[in-house]
Amino acid sequence: MTRFIAVTSGKGGVGKSNFVLNVAIALAAMESNVLILDADLGLANLDVLLGLRPQRTLEDVVLGHASLGDIIVKTDYRVGLIPGSSGTQDMADLDKRQVGNLLGAVREITHDTDFLLIDTASGISSSVVSFLMAAPEVVVGVNDEPTSLTDAYALIKVLKRNGYEGRVSMFASQAKNSAAGHTIYKKISSAAQKFLDIQVEFLGSVYADDKLPRAVKDQVPAIVRYPTSDIARCYRVVALTMLGQKSVSADIEKLWTRLVAMIMKAGRPKAMKAVSFNGEVSARSMEKTLQDILEEQRKTRILLERLLEALETGGLASRVHKGYTA
Ligand SMILES: Nc1ncnc2c1ncn2[C@@H]1O[C@H](COP(=O)(O)OP(=O)(O)O)[C@@H](O)[C@H]1O
Ligand SMILES: [Mg+2]
Repeated sequence: MTRFIAVTSGKGGVGKSNFVLNVAIALAAMESNVLILDADLGLANLDVLLGLRPQRTLEDVVLGHASLGDIIVKTDYRVGLIPGSSGTQDMADLDKRQVGNLLGAVREITHDTDFLLIDTASGISSSVVSFLMAAPEVVVGVNDEPTSLTDAYALIKVLKRNGYEGRVSMFASQAKNSAAGHTIYKKISSAAQKFLDIQVEFLGSVYADDKLPRAVKDQVPAIVRYPTSDIARCYRVVALTMLGQKSVSADIEKLWTRLVAMIMKAGRPKAMKAVSFNGEVSARSMEKTLQDILEEQRKTRILLERLLEALETGGLASRVHKGYTA
């Protein structure tokens, strides 16, 4: 099953396009089949970040001059790109029906795709909102600027008003460190929870790193150009977290199988209550068990993050000696 994930932000320039590109490459390196749709219609730039000059773009598809299959570009990083067009006002103003048609066509060519990442424009124009409403998962990029925070919140509010029922996640952009990123997450998630009754999941932080603008200048994705940089590690951790999210959205049958396996392994009688073998489950205990899983997942992520960091700096042995514990 393909996960359709639209990446957006209230405010522009938070690092969405680079996020989409680098996380896509990280996911592909983890054996996922990934396709990127450049839906910043009118001002598409993923091709530029990749140093490519596609002959045809989504505009040709919308005008009926080409099919989606014709315009997909294979990149060097095992990620496919559906290029968008730049400098065309008409493309920026696609209506709901046109966006629906486009995504319907995309759906038909994504049978073997694990992730379709959609890079949208910023703001809450109707074409952006149409993409978001049509995607089962939305990821919002937020940095610490008050305008970014309020715009991100406003965007989530628009989703709520339109009856969005999918998953909402966010990443903290240009954060100084993990604690700073978490603070940004807390601000958004508590407001969304309190005033909109929406739960926002956290995919992690993307640190502020001057390697990113340098990679942009070279037109090579940062994760490829500077694989051991802070920012490359952040993108990889996000990719891992996204892969981990799958278990939450998996169908209920699979979820229970996993739950039972986990509980049996951990031997926790308290969590046992969450599963009833005659098929009846109390909503509260299920919620508690899901929270346990998320917590477990969070811990795994921290462990993996440390492991990756240690492998990259070659300092695994010394850390173990120092008694580095999770
Ligand atoms: N984490 C970061 N660290 C350093 N610079 C960043 C970071 N994120 C974004 N930038 C800067 O912002 C610019 C815009 O990034 P981009 O991914 O195109 O944003 P968006 O798609 O949200 O408009 C980048 O070229 C870079 O100069
Ligand atoms: Mg962009």
